[in-house]
Amino acid sequence: MGKTIIISNRLPVSIQKKEDGLSYTPSAGGLATGLGSIYKSGDNVWLGWPGLYVTNENEKEEITSNLKNENMAPVFLTKEEIEKFYEGFSNTTLWPLFHYFPSYTSFDEGYWETYKFVNQIFCEETLKYAHNDDIIWIHDYQLLLLPNMIREKLPNASIGFFQHIPFPSFEIFRNLPWRKELLEGMLGSDLIGFHTYDDVRHFLSSVNRLVGLDNKMGELRVEERICMVDSFPMGIDYSKFDMAARSENTIKEIASYGEFLGNTKTIVSIDRLDYSKGIPDRLLAFDLFLENYPDYKGQVTLLMIVVPSRDQVDLYKQLKVEIDELVGRINGKHGKIDWTPIRYFYRSFPFTSLSAMYRLSDIALVTPLRDGMNLVCKEFIASKIDQTGVLILSEMAGAAKELSDALIINPNNLPEMADAIYKALIMPEEEQIRRMDELQSVVKRYDIHNWVQLFMRSLDVVKEKQYEMSVK
Ligand code: F6P
Repeated sequence: MGKTIIISNRLPVSIQKKEDGLSYTPSAGGLATGLGSIYKSGDNVWLGWPGLYVTNENEKEEITSNLKNENMAPVFLTKEEIEKFYEGFSNTTLWPLFHYFPSYTSFDEGYWETYKFVNQIFCEETLKYAHNDDIIWIHDYQLLLLPNMIREKLPNASIGFFQHIPFPSFEIFRNLPWRKELLEGMLGSDLIGFHTYDDVRHFLSSVNRLVGLDNKMGELRVEERICMVDSFPMGIDYSKFDMAARSENTIKEIASYGEFLGNTKTIVSIDRLDYSKGIPDRLLAFDLFLENYPDYKGQVTLLMIVVPSRDQVDLYKQLKVEIDELVGRINGKHGKIDWTPIRYFYRSFPFTSLSAMYRLSDIALVTPLRDGMNLVCKEFIASKIDQTGVLILSEMAGAAKELSDALIINPNNLPEMADAIYKALIMPEEEQIRRMDELQSVVKRYDIHNWVQLFMRSLDVVKEKQYEMSVK
């Protein structure tokens, strides 16, 4: 039995250059938590880009040796590679197209060449650690070519791939000039996972039309190999959010907010800054709600956190300006001396503050225009320990497939969103508890640990089947 290697674009640690040297902050994200028990044990390892641009060889050595103690290995990228591979092909080509924004998508041959080159760099780094009997789990759209690059060098390795963002319908995917190469890259895997069955369907349809392979219940034959495609809806670390919401620290944090939020109903909204999250539409829906239901002026506050992200990409810079202007306009239009309709923060918050915000909020407004899964809604659910509170959720989020007890809305329908806010505000407590109970049981059962186990077990099953086939 070999080791397990996890590969993702980013390592589960954020490294920053400070005046007194480098600072390392472990990621608190769900994926890092879920995979923690795997990569931290034995000689397993997590490979990825350390998230900063390093030129100095001593600094590279220092980072490599510090990360080695944590079972991590850095893949260093040059400034140009970051621009063309990460900001370029990953976030200006694949991200918009896969989130159904074809008009935002750039098709740039230079970006594509660098994407191939960087996937090759990841392959070479992986081969320094990997052998034929190892399990290799690759994550996300930045590394679509990597499964087959590794397969060519290690034909017997167990290779799993999970895509954390949507896989678009064939009519969208076909626009990519490099569509066939990308599919062939993914097909080097033994198991390919998506969040939803719709993503699986879309992927299989593209494979059928572009590569000419038919599937049987998600199973493809790639030359002599089996490649299984299935859905694995990702969960959160439920008990972490549940316990945090009950903790003294969270209670103190809520108390420290004092009268600011206590006197009104609170709607929470938390996202990375991204056009796929539908933040401007959400603001417009809140504006419409205040116009249509003026009695609620002074009675409801939108607590909106936008976490800075990809701020070197133009569309993200423009979106930041749009959001700033909208918040200013809506607050200017409806605000009163003693009430600010939208409390807007453009920064990240510590975990205890997030826990407090989830716990104190009456409504969570999660309205992406498109989202692979969306974990914020699951975090809100796990934090509602008294089971009151209402989730308003976009039907375009993968999570909507599991969370049917939320108020499901179409994020392009502003009147529907405004009415959903009203419905949530007047929802009897009994109904809130009944819905929240159902939501909690789903999110609790299918947590991040269950997700990791399920994926790993399925990868094992494919390999066993493959082995049985080869000895027949
Ligand atoms: O879930 C999609 C994803 O792009 C991950 O791959 C990534 O870690 C996260 O969102 C944050 O994005 P970025 O790494 O571009 O900051």
